[in-house]
Amino acid sequence: MKKSYLFLSVFLALFMVITNQSCSDDEDDPDDMMMMEEETPDFIADDQTFAGLTSWTLSGEESGLSTYTSLGGAHGAATSTSVRKIYYSGGQDPANGEYPMGTLIAKHVSDSEDASINQYFGMVKRGADYDPAGGNWEWFILNADGTIQNDPDTGEPQRGDSSFKACGSCHAGAAVDFAFTKGGPSDFNATDAAFANFSDWTLVATEVGDTDPLLQGGAHGGNSATSVREIYFKDDASIGDNGYPVGTLIAKHVSDSDDPNVNAYFGMVKRGSTYDSANGNWEWFILNADGSVVVNEDGDPERGDSSFKACSGCHAAAAADFVFSK
Ligand code: HEC
Ligand code: HEC
Repeated sequence: MKKSYLFLSVFLALFMVITNQSCSDDEDDPDDMMMMEEETPDFIADDQTFAGLTSWTLSGEESGLSTYTSLGGAHGAATSTSVRKIYYSGGQDPANGEYPMGTLIAKHVSDSEDASINQYFGMVKRGADYDPAGGNWEWFILNADGTIQNDPDTGEPQRGDSSFKACGSCHAGAAVDFAFTKGGPSDFNATDAAFANFSDWTLVATEVGDTDPLLQGGAHGGNSATSVREIYFKDDASIGDNGYPVGTLIAKHVSDSDDPNVNAYFGMVKRGSTYDSANGNWEWFILNADGSVVVNEDGDPERGDSSFKACSGCHAAAAADFVFSK
């Protein structure tokens, strides 16, 4: 008996020494502390990270064709009956234009006419060393239960940095930190002051005479050889992959070098994705010289979507996104 007690206490003593040592390895050793400080924090998702994604905060819902013209079939937005639901874990918001490490966003693509369409995508904000050029996002293709899909050919999990599929390069066009759903302006509803001082904007083109057969005579004030049309773009806005950005403002001044009485002003504004998506989400304006919106005899402002005058129908003939001049 005595012998086995002795054995046990030796064993216990030894055990305590070992556990003490391993504790000190983790916490007290100055070399290890250094190592821990040098390691950049990271967030590596596992197969359970996206579990229950459809119970996260529903932060966006898009339906129909995407206004992002390049979206096409790649992301399931190729039909007018497509429905895309965007879920943010914890309703996370960007801070100073960037999402914090550990941010989880998921997207469910379905189709109101075709129950067989169900696709799930995810993005996770990794640590600062992961892929700085790609915003340190990792991209995922998921199963309905949130687990990570395996590639049917290679068996590898469908996840990766900005080199994975085309995810990162298309999402680079988002207004804030590679995520489309939050942070960017979702609509731009012009006030009466929006076109004030438009003649100080960037003069992108000056057209003289009726050089463009599209003007079809008088429609737009281009019906004489002495007609002058000046086109101004606010902030010199440029077209991107997905058309002109929301909030783009363009103004046109029609005058005549032979007739000082000719002065007409037109405007167009890029609205949000649900404004008039079949017609580029442009709103059309007839303006006064000071940029305010003309009010007609009924007291209504002269502005509207593609059903307003014939503006949109003719502009649909422009090479890109309803704009002729740039
Ligand atoms: C051609 C452009 C394009 C490509 C390629 C693309 N996406 Fe998207 N993605 C979008 C757009 C646009 C949205 C906004 C919602 C919508 O309109 O469906 C979006 C939304 C998302 C969202 C919700 C967060 C947000 O940005 O609003 C996730 C998550 C997502 N995509 C993941 C992916 C993954 C993973 C891939 C690659 C397998 C991918 N995307 C490829 C355009 C794209
Ligand atoms: C019959 C064709 C036609 C119609 C209708 C038309 N436009 Fe235009 N518009 C043009 C052309 C062509 C230009 C290119 C500049 C030029 O040659 O004067 C232009 C230029 C513009 C521009 C400068 C941006 C650009 O596309 O270059 C604005 C703004 C504009 N039009 C507004 C309007 C508004 C508002 C209406 C409706 C009240 C309208 N347009 C109706 C043909 C048309």
